[in-house]
Amino acid sequence: QAKMVDGYSIRRIRKSDYEGVVETLKVLTVVGNLSRSEFEKIVEYWDSITVSETTKLYNPLVVVDDTTGAIAATGNVLIERKLIHEGALCGHIEDIAVSRDHQGRQLGRYLIEQLTALAVRAGCYKVILDCDPSNVAFYEKCQFTRAGVEMQFRT
Ligand code: ACO
Repeated sequence: QAKMVDGYSIRRIRKSDYEGVVETLKVLTVVGNLSRSEFEKIVEYWDSITVSETTKLYNPLVVVDDTTGAIAATGNVLIERKLIHEGALCGHIEDIAVSRDHQGRQLGRYLIEQLTALAVRAGCYKVILDCDPSNVAFYEKCQFTRAGVEMQFRT
């Protein structure tokens, strides 16, 4: 069980998290002008799709600063149903961001541990992610090991 970081809580994303999540994701990449209603529709969509009776396909989490209520970090794990390995489940960690003010407090590691634990509880036989070479050491501290090479076709 991952150790909680003092002064922070973790929970699933809600529609009311619009500003905090969009702001937090800016450390990762360009979010663009995603409106509040577009954000809310996506959260509803994420909440609506299930992989089994107990598991959702999208599992977006936020880490919240208990004192200010601000969103300090966010990330998602998708639970994929495969045909191989007798219809096994595989977790895909996506879009990890710890807001600048909260970096270096073990929140990134805590978030990865919680997303991974969620996927393992759901029955995933492995959890994978793609990252920049500059983040390899961070993920190694989260017990991930190097495997394969990321390829992309970009439009
Ligand atoms: N390189 C080497 N070590 C690192 C790095 C790094 N880039 N980042 C953190 N660490 C180390 C820390 O020093 C710490 O080590 P320690 O426990 O020995 O003291 C350990 O990893 C845990 O660090 P955290 O404090 O949990 O890291 P933080 O909360 O700052 O989050 C993160 C790290 C997620 C990379 C954050 O800096 C961030 O949001 N960066 C910008 C966005 C980004 O790159 N996101 C990841 C994209 S990959 C994906 O989404 C699948």
